[in-house]
Amino acid sequence: MFRTDQERLSGEIVALAGRYGRDRSALLPILQTVQSRYHHISDYAMQEVASLLNIHPVEVYSVVTFYAFLKARRQGQFVIRLCRTISCDMQGKEKVARQLENELGIKFGGTTPDGKFTLEWANCLGMCDQGPALLVNDQVFSKVTAEKVHDILEACRRSFSVYASQKEGH
Ligand code: FES
Repeated sequence: MFRTDQERLSGEIVALAGRYGRDRSALLPILQTVQSRYHHISDYAMQEVASLLNIHPVEVYSVVTFYAFLKARRQGQFVIRLCRTISCDMQGKEKVARQLENELGIKFGGTTPDGKFTLEWANCLGMCDQGPALLVNDQVFSKVTAEKVHDILEACRRSFSVYASQKEGH
């Protein structure tokens, strides 16, 4: 039985090091797993990983800040990444962006106070002929219009409430 969240996190990191190894090559897979479980990588997690892999915490921190998908700050349950590269830009990404900001009440780079949504910019998602394109976590949406934004967010909210009620049922 773990007494604190930090002890639980430490235990998980030890288990991940057992799976991926205790050298530098394990750094990225461990960080990716922590990111996907906790939606961010805390200072404490970075220190734990550094000491287990016997590398300097600054090195861990620089990896977290280098890779766009690793976050030192907590992210929402749904991370929405809208492509801002030229094809999507020319196909109306600005309108989609404004709609996302209006509906969620946050700016790009922000997270809603309820922790459900984070809004971020992305670079080309490889859907240039079907822009504007966005990702919700790892699901791609193409030809997104301002009107479609509402439906996408509603679908997220519905699946979030299913997720939340499943958690409560445990
Ligand atoms: Fe947006 Fe390629 S420019 S997906």
